[in-house]
Amino acid sequence: ERRVLSGIQPSGSATLGNYVGALKFWVDDQDTSDCLYCIVDLHALTVDQDPASLREQTLQLAALLLAVGIDPNRSTLFLQSQVPHHAELSWIMECVATYGELSRMTQFKDKGKGSSTVRASLFTYPALMAADILLYRATHVPVGDDQKQHLELTRNLATRFNNRYGETFVIPEPEIPKVGARVMDLQDPTRKMSKSSKSDAGNIYLTDTKDAVAKKVQRAVTDTENKVYFDPNNPGKAGVNNLLSIFSALKDEEPNEIAARYSGYGHLKSDLTEVINETLTPIRTMIEELRNDDRHLIELLHNGAEKAAVASRDTLRRAKSAMGLIPWS
Ligand code: TYM
Repeated sequence: ERRVLSGIQPSGSATLGNYVGALKFWVDDQDTSDCLYCIVDLHALTVDQDPASLREQTLQLAALLLAVGIDPNRSTLFLQSQVPHHAELSWIMECVATYGELSRMTQFKDKGKGSSTVRASLFTYPALMAADILLYRATHVPVGDDQKQHLELTRNLATRFNNRYGETFVIPEPEIPKVGARVMDLQDPTRKMSKSSKSDAGNIYLTDTKDAVAKKVQRAVTDTENKVYFDPNNPGKAGVNNLLSIFSALKDEEPNEIAARYSGYGHLKSDLTEVINETLTPIRTMIEELRNDDRHLIELLHNGAEKAAVASRDTLRRAKSAMGLIPWS
C-alpha cells in the first residue's frame, strides 16, 4: 500500500517549477496511492509574511491545487496550521535532530547566510518537514530536487528514533522526477525558478496570462550557438537545457527527441509557449471559478484537516509514549 504525502508553501505564487517538479506527480499519484497534500503555512512563517497576503496566497494556492487536479474526494488536502499534530511532532523531531545536522542544510545556509537576525524557525524548519511526513507514515514523498537533502534528514531522524525508542515511524522514499526536477530561472539558468524570488521575468507563474508566458519564453536566456541539442553537463547550454527539460516534462517525451525537431531557438520557443499555455489555460480558468466561492474552499480545507487529524493521531501518540511522555488521551 502506497501512502503519499507532500507539501507546498503558500509563500508567493506557484511556479511552473512547482508544477513540473512536484504537482504533476501529486495528481498522478492519486491513481495508485492513498494521498495527503499539505499547504505548509507554518513553514511560510519562517520568513516575514504580510498577514493579509499570506491569507490570500493560501486560498489562491488551495484553488490552484484543486485546479491542477487534486481531487478532494480521493485525496486529503489540508492546511498544516489546522492540524496541531504537526507543530507537536516537530518539537519531538527537534529533540532527535542535532544542531550539527541542521547546520549542514544547504537551504538554511543559502537563505540564512549566517545572519543572526533570521528567524529561529528557518533553522529548525527541516524538523517540521520531517514531522509532516512521519505523522502520516508516508511511504513515498514526491518532491523536486531541492528537497532531497531534507528527505535524507527525515529518513535519518526516523531511523534514529526507531533505534533509540522502538519501531515507530515508517522510513519514507523520496520520488524525484528524472526530468524537470530542477526547473531553472528563465533569466538566470544557474538559479532555480522559485516562487519566493523577485525575478518576475525569470519565473513562469501557473496563473500567468498567455501573453505573459509568450513574452517570458521569448526573452528566456539561451546562448549564441543557435543549435538545439540537450547536453545537461554543459553549463554553456543551461538555458536551452532548461527549455528542453520543461518541454520534455510537459509532453512526456525525451529531451533529445524534441531537440531533433528544431534547427533554431525561435521555433523551439514558440512551440514551447504553446505547450505551456495548453497546460496553464484550463488551470487559470478553474482557479477563477473556484475563487468565486472562498467559503466553499475554506470548508473543503476544514474537512481535509479533520481527516488529516484522524490519520496522524495514533502515530503522534505512539511517538510520545515511546519517549516516555505520558499521553493525555
Ligand atoms: P516548496 O513550496 O518550495 O515547493 C513545492 C514543491 O515544488 C518543488 N519545486 C521545484 N521543482 C522543480 N524545479 C523548481 N524550480 C522547483 N521549485 C520548487 C519542490 O521541490 C517541492 O516539491 N519544504 C518544502 C515543502 C514541504 C514538504 C513537506 C514537501 C514542507 N513539508 C513534506 C514534502 C513533504 C518546500 O519548501 O517546497
